[in-house]
Amino acid sequence: MSLLIDERTQTLIDEFQKHFGAAPQYLSRGPGRVNLIGEHTDYNDGFVLPVALKRDVRFVLRPRADRQVRVYSLEFGEEGSFDLDALRFDPNRLWLNYIQGMAWSLEQEGVRLIGIDAVVSGNVPRGSGLSSSAALEIAAAHAFLIASGQSVALSGPRIAQLAQRAENQFVGVNCGIMDQFISELGRANHALLIDCRSLDYQLVPMPEAVSLVISNTRASRSLASSAYNERRAQCEEGVRLLRQALPDIRALRDVSLEQLEAYRNLLSETVYRRCRHVVSENKRVLHCVAALQQGDLAKAGRLMNASHESLRNDYEVSSPALDAMVEAMRSAKGCYGARLTGAGFGGCAVALVQAGCEQAVADAIFAHYPKATGIWPEVYTTQAADGASAEQL
Ligand code: GLA
Repeated sequence: MSLLIDERTQTLIDEFQKHFGAAPQYLSRGPGRVNLIGEHTDYNDGFVLPVALKRDVRFVLRPRADRQVRVYSLEFGEEGSFDLDALRFDPNRLWLNYIQGMAWSLEQEGVRLIGIDAVVSGNVPRGSGLSSSAALEIAAAHAFLIASGQSVALSGPRIAQLAQRAENQFVGVNCGIMDQFISELGRANHALLIDCRSLDYQLVPMPEAVSLVISNTRASRSLASSAYNERRAQCEEGVRLLRQALPDIRALRDVSLEQLEAYRNLLSETVYRRCRHVVSENKRVLHCVAALQQGDLAKAGRLMNASHESLRNDYEVSSPALDAMVEAMRSAKGCYGARLTGAGFGGCAVALVQAGCEQAVADAIFAHYPKATGIWPEVYTTQAADGASAEQL
């Protein structure tokens, strides 16, 4: 089957030719994601319901005979290179560390890689909560695997875990498994229910009558990483304290709302509220899956609204910009529900929208959000897309 080469891929091919003086042999891609519901649950062994986006990171590449890697980034307009036998964090080229980290993680797993020449480019907005880093890691994983003739060596969930390990241990960001998992395993027109403990997953068809409108607050997320780590620590503390009464629990996933209420006196007010978000959010994810399966979009929207309220009041990861964005989206005709998506503090919000009403939601955003915040947002309409791929050109 010949591959359909769109304009973006053609640009990559042309750049490769210019840069390396030959034609690339393979194309790999990893998409960004938007999470419908299930926020800050992945690192608590809980449930999430993301979809993969059409926006992605792509590599075109050619295997080399040695263990050198040379990658030209179109967005950064620069080449980075490294030796697979001397992988080390590069403080001058942060983007390259995701690629080095992926190589490191694959080799740690016992997958022997060969070097590549590659051109990389992405259209997932960076630093906006749509997982451009996971997209880069997953696209890099498939670039290395196909170049090394190892495309079938690893399962999808394992590739996602190795990408998470690259980000945790090589790049040094303490993320959960959701972003890499959906980038790897997403499917067009489906959301993916992921059990972040067992890594079992289930495709959930998106009703045809629905669209997703994503809106980028373009507000700074400077607090995001320190606050993310603090929330993780508070969840762990919650588990440690609740174990005095519930010795068998391993994570907040194992706690019911009734148990949390019964043993609330063991927790500080803040830790109690953090736990209440996670425990209630896990329930909302499962209810949202049922609502989508029944085509009850109004209910799915209400659950998304409730998720936002919980993230704002109990987990305290919203921001004035995100609240203004969500309010603007909800004011539009045809919006079933809206919430912040990703880690929070800035970045994007997502709305579940009746098909045909996308423009009304965009209009409402542009009418209200800039007035409330002084910031001009970006709006993307999307359908759920396929996860990662790698092909011969
Ligand atoms: C970031 C992390 C994910 C997840 C979300 C919050 O996107 O990378 O693993 O924890 O935040 O749901």
